[in-house]
Amino acid sequence: MNILLIGSGGREHALAWAISASPLCDKLFIAPGNPGTAECGENVVLDIADHRAVADFCKVMGVGLVVVGPEGPLVDGIVDDLEAAGIKTFGPSKAAAQLEGSKAFTKELCAEFGIPTAGFARFTDEAAARTYVARTGAPLVIKADGLAAGKGVVMAETIERANDALAMMFSGGLGAAGAEVVIEEWMIGEEASFFALCDGTHALPLASAQDHKRAFDGDTGPNTGGMGAYSPAPVMTTAMAEQVMAEIVRPTLAGMNQRGTPFKGVLFAGLMITADGPKLIEYNTRFGDPECEVLMPRLKSDIVPALLAARDGVLNAVDLRWSDDVALTVVMAAKGYPGTPEKGSVIKDIDKAAAEKDVLVFHAGTQAKDGDIVANGGRVLNVVALGRSVSEAQAKAYAAVDLIDWPGGFCRRDIGWQAVKREREG
Ligand code: AMP
Ligand code: GLY
Repeated sequence: MNILLIGSGGREHALAWAISASPLCDKLFIAPGNPGTAECGENVVLDIADHRAVADFCKVMGVGLVVVGPEGPLVDGIVDDLEAAGIKTFGPSKAAAQLEGSKAFTKELCAEFGIPTAGFARFTDEAAARTYVARTGAPLVIKADGLAAGKGVVMAETIERANDALAMMFSGGLGAAGAEVVIEEWMIGEEASFFALCDGTHALPLASAQDHKRAFDGDTGPNTGGMGAYSPAPVMTTAMAEQVMAEIVRPTLAGMNQRGTPFKGVLFAGLMITADGPKLIEYNTRFGDPECEVLMPRLKSDIVPALLAARDGVLNAVDLRWSDDVALTVVMAAKGYPGTPEKGSVIKDIDKAAAEKDVLVFHAGTQAKDGDIVANGGRVLNVVALGRSVSEAQAKAYAAVDLIDWPGGFCRRDIGWQAVKREREG
């Protein structure tokens, strides 16, 4: 079967790596891909926003399955349009992608189906929101309703900061995403990302991971798309995973079904493990980036039959095996990220790092230029290592990072610190 994968980040390189290893995959196309995905298949130039053009490409090339990596095309309805054109596509419909596309939609679903999450209120009017903030008091979390590339959340320790965030969002600082604002209770606990594959009715738990959202060591600096991750997340014990499935994932699938918009694809639950149990922070309707880069290396089974079964609604027949090893990824970003990253700096010796035992390097914002690999985005490389513990995976990942010669880049030096501390304290 020929497969088309949509996207160009580290997540897509990890997916391309896993998909291309499947005996079911004859030819893999990636649109637009990156220099890393070019080693797993053929990168193709396609206007992803033109769903008709994507469908035509699939027909001409005999593509039997499309896998959509990022949220943008999902929220834009690419799955609906490709399926309508007769092309099997893995991912949620436009209606189901609202779980990621609108925070207010998800909060209402939680309220309706009793899914544990932070208390909240919704506002389309700044004055009403300010009155609510004054009445409730800080700390609070202020969120733009729509997609804001990870920049739509302000953790407001004080009322002044909450009001500043409201002013920024309601004056169009985040564009249309901020036309509606959700104000939430600030939950305390440890965060974990939990992934489940869904076929509309059944959910198959995948694995858990922990992301590092802040730009700098010690979880300081601005929020980013994620500076590193490891899997599994130690807080996500078997019992906790079952609780998350029972209280959060399965009720969500049931609720979406009841509303006539069944969810197919990857359900990515951002969780806070609070003293009162797991609570949903937010949903994403795709694999996480960089979480996918630590999930794929731990997956022992062929991913393609699982993706097909999710699309076909027969996931109950699928069982996936995972390695007991820990995978840890360090994101190498271009200086300036998450502001304006410097483009064009040359990166040398990626192959030296990739040749290390138990190490994989997944490309994100790279570009091939005159025989060199150069930086072409914010998050540029993922250096992934497998080990028997987080400490071991961390040591191997940083040893590989240090082989890469890239003065224009930086990375956090403490990815996995919480788990390493736990392991040391035994
Ligand atoms: P989100 O984009 O909704 O995942 O939020 C980004 C980050 O903000 C999360 O990973 C959390 O660290 C934090 N966050 C969001 N909502 C809350 C909340 N209600 N309580 C505590 N932290 C939150
Ligand atoms: N790493 C968080 C995300 O993919 O949204």
